[in-house]
Parts: sequence; C-alpha cells; structure tokens
Amino acid sequence: MQKQRLEGKVALITGAASGIGEETVRLFAENGALIVVADVQDELGEQVVASIGSEKVIYHHCDVRDEKQVEETIKFTLEKYGHIDILFSNAGILGTLSSILEFDLDEFDNIISTNVRGAAATIKHAARAMVAKKIQGSIICTTSVAACIGGAGPHAYTISKHGLVGLVKAACSELGAYGIRVNSISPYGVATPLSCKGLNLEPHEVEDYSCSEANLKGVVLKAKHIAEAALFLASDEAIYISGHNLVVDGGFSVVNRSKY
Ligand SMILES: NC(=O)c1ccc[n+]([C@@H]2O[C@H](COP(=O)([O-])OP(=O)(O)OC[C@H]3O[C@@H](n4cnc5c(N)ncnc54)[C@H](O)[C@@H]3O)[C@@H](O)[C@H]2O)c1
Repeated sequence: MQKQRLEGKVALITGAASGIGEETVRLFAENGALIVVADVQDELGEQVVASIGSEKVIYHHCDVRDEKQVEETIKFTLEKYGHIDILFSNAGILGTLSSILEFDLDEFDNIISTNVRGAAATIKHAARAMVAKKIQGSIICTTSVAACIGGAGPHAYTISKHGLVGLVKAACSELGAYGIRVNSISPYGVATPLSCKGLNLEPHEVEDYSCSEANLKGVVLKAKHIAEAALFLASDEAIYISGHNLVVDGGFSVVNRSKY
C-alpha cells in the first residue's frame, strides 16, 4: 500500500482548478491530505473536486488579488478542518510577451497584484492561522525559471517571479521562529492552460517547444513532476528545508546554452 505522506494534514492550494495546482490537489489527496481547492474558475474547481469524489477535498472561490477573499478562505478552511498545515500558493498569470520599450504598466499592475501581492496576502493570513494554532506548517510558492534568469518569460512575469522569491526569503526569515517552513518551486515550461494560451500553442506543441529548448533531454516535464516537488516540500521529509527555491528545470537556468 502507498505511504500516505500527508496523512491528516490540512492543505490550502490556490490556483487549484487547473494545471500544476490541479495535479497537486490529486497527489495531495492520494497522500491523505484534507484539501481546500481555491481558485476563481468555480466550475472547473468544482469539477476537480467531483472527479476526486472525496469528502476531504472541497472547493472555495478565492481571488487572491482581494485580501478580504483570502482572509475569508482561511476562515473557511479553519471552520471546515480546524487548522491549516500546508499552504501551496500557486495561483499565477503569465501576461503577454512584449518589448520593454512597449511595456504595458496596467498589465504589469495586474500581474504583480496576482503573482506577488496575492501570494503575500495568502502567506499573511495562512501564517497567522498557523501561528495562532501553534502549527509548524509548510508554505510553498510556485515561482518559475523566470525567477532565476531574464528572458524566460514576459518581463512583468519575470519581475513578479523574482519578487516572489524575495517574499519567500522575507517570510522564511520571520516564520522560522514559529517552526514554519517557507519555500518555493521554480518550474521550467509545462504544458498547462497558462503556457498554451501564452504561447498560443496546443499542449503537445508546448511540450515539443519545451523539449527542444531544454537542457535535460529524454524527459518531458509534466505538471505531475511539479506536484511531486510540492509533495516533498509539504511533507516531513523536508523537515529542515526552509528558504529554499527548488528549481525543477533540468538545469535550464544554470547552463549557457549558446555554447552548445
Ligand atoms: N506552466 C508553466 O510552464 C509554468 C512554469 C513556471 C511556473 N508556472 C507557475 O505555475 C503556477 C500555476 O500555473 P499553471 O501553469 O498550472 O497554469 P494554469 O493556468 O493551468 O493554472 C493557474 C490557475 O491560477 C488561477 N488563478 C489565476 N488568477 C487567479 C487569482 N487572481 N486568484 C485565484 N486563482 C487565480 C487560474 O484560474 C488557474 O486555475 C503559476 O504561478 C505559474 O506562474 C507555470
């Protein structure tokens, strides 16, 4: 029988109706977690929950750009399950590729508001709940290879994901005193609605493109691989890991590919 690595742990996952978040919901559920699936895509979120068919997985609407909704989602989680052990702050948007010379500052505001401010609000309220209940929890944010190098995504997205790594370090520096771990995961390109829409490609075309640009050959990166990294950081196997950015990119961001 499979080991239940999150048996009885309560997890809140944002951006959980699709892509990496959805895969993480499925993997956390298989590993015994009680989960609140939070997203703005209500129909999709309810479908994810229905397809898992467990009373331990419930959907709740939450737009992370609105602090009140974030606070209310934490309250909902506490009312349902009593406490919160794991926050996977994963909601994010990509924006459009454009020149810095034509930088759209309104789009920039929306990306920062979602990817950075939204994560900050979610960490704030989840950490408050963990501290109040003396839970030595695990907080994980989804960043990106675009948090490691420039030119791996739209400029506003790159700025937001670098900011998110800063948020993780700042939160880690304070929450360690409460036994709370704060980490991030930086994925390379995965075929999800975000990347398909961003590149205007079908999933198999995104995978072909990612594979052609990748450093590590012979593996197609899937959302499931990122969910496995989240499972590791959420579990007690990562009990002394905090302030770490777990880069899941097959070496993409540390190799100068122009040499090969
Ligand atoms: N797909 C990739 O190649 C890739 C690579 C690196 C990092 N990421 C990051 O992974 C995370 C998940 O993205 P994905 O690829 O699974 O894309 P996705 O579009 O499948 O999932 C993102 C989810 O976030 C939700 N969301 C967007 N704005 C929100 C908001 N304001 N409040 C609540 N939910 C909101 C969306 O509704 C969606 O369900 C994002 O943070 C993204 O930046 C993705």
